[in-house]
Amino acid sequence: MKRAIFGAVVASTLLSANVYAETISISCGAVGQELELCQEGVAAWEKETGHTAKIVTTPNSTTERLALYQQLLAAGAKDIDVFQIDVIWPGILGNHFIDLAEYSNGAQDQHFPSIVANNTVKDRLVAMPWFTDAGVLYYRKDLLEKYDEQPPETWEQLTEAAQKIMDAEREAGNDKMWGFVWQGRAYEGLTCDALEWVASYNGGTIVDENGKITINNDNAKQALTTAAGWINTISPPGVLNYGEEEARGVFQTGNAVFMRNWPYAWSLGNSEDSPVKDKIGVVALPKGGEDGSHAGTLGGWQLAVSKYSENPEVAASLVMYLTSLEEQKRRAIVGSYNPTIESLYEDEEVLTAVPFFGSLYNTFANGTPRPSTATGAKYNQVSNAFWNATHSVLSGNVTADAALTKLNKDLKRISRGGRW
Ligand code: GLC
Repeated sequence: MKRAIFGAVVASTLLSANVYAETISISCGAVGQELELCQEGVAAWEKETGHTAKIVTTPNSTTERLALYQQLLAAGAKDIDVFQIDVIWPGILGNHFIDLAEYSNGAQDQHFPSIVANNTVKDRLVAMPWFTDAGVLYYRKDLLEKYDEQPPETWEQLTEAAQKIMDAEREAGNDKMWGFVWQGRAYEGLTCDALEWVASYNGGTIVDENGKITINNDNAKQALTTAAGWINTISPPGVLNYGEEEARGVFQTGNAVFMRNWPYAWSLGNSEDSPVKDKIGVVALPKGGEDGSHAGTLGGWQLAVSKYSENPEVAASLVMYLTSLEEQKRRAIVGSYNPTIESLYEDEEVLTAVPFFGSLYNTFANGTPRPSTATGAKYNQVSNAFWNATHSVLSGNVTADAALTKLNKDLKRISRGGRW
């Protein structure tokens, strides 16, 4: 009897979903609260559809994740149906993904058009936008107030305030205090930070929209030289090996005045057990001098379905569920992940949870893009050359002048004389 009832319940669940239950798999990131939020979203989709999705975790470093994906996709592996991909990858990996426009019922029209354009390769929508990102400046409200400082408008002001507050706090007994933490390891994260410095000094975006290499200029040199001056003064020498989570670790334990990071650090920094809860402010990253500009690198993640998937329809249903307005709203409120659906930037609950989604709307809507569209499949080589050049300047091994002269040559070779 029991079994018959159980059978009837299962049958009706399957009938209401009108499909047979399938099992697929999805790769989710695990930076900050990402994994937890992905699990919850997947569980809700499972409940609604009767399908199952296994979650495959991937390395935190974007650079390592790309290497793993390239291996799997080049081998036509069926292990992962849904891939979480970086905003800079459609040109590198797009050929391995299906056209989601066939399953989306036009849902992409609610999202930022620039991200949809970014995810469209040769007229195919290779990924749905999931969350967007832009670099922002975190600061300790309590410390700035204590030392009568305002949030900095320029890098020069940041450097001065960071040094002053750090020195005073050390004097007062906190010998672990640093002025400014950020992402300095030789990986994609450093490309993001360094692009912000360069763009903020009006030094361009490494390669411009038309594919012209622009990095070898005086403003870019000034930007990198300024950043090199932070090492072991306001930034710990260890910053040269920091990713996002290492920087957050230092800031969240209360040992840094300023931090450059993505919006996800907001929710965690304000969680119940965070030593800096309610002590954090967020503003746009500083300008390079009075004539510079505020620049936050555009980041973000998309969901794509592998061409090698045996269940593309089920996989696409998961993608559409996770990228929907309801899920993006939940992720914004719980985890401060930026929606890619424009209307959510006017949602009261979202703005209460993350006020700077409103005050920094421009930073998110007009982030500084990395040159991944212009350089297409070559982007990772370009970025690799740029982060290595930057890392060697930060390490004090070469001058910015020598590093950028060499980088210029390397990029010419990679681009085969500008043809990309
Ligand atoms: C964030 C961004 C992503 C970027 C990465 C670098 O995850 O969203 O676009 O490539 O950081 O570490």
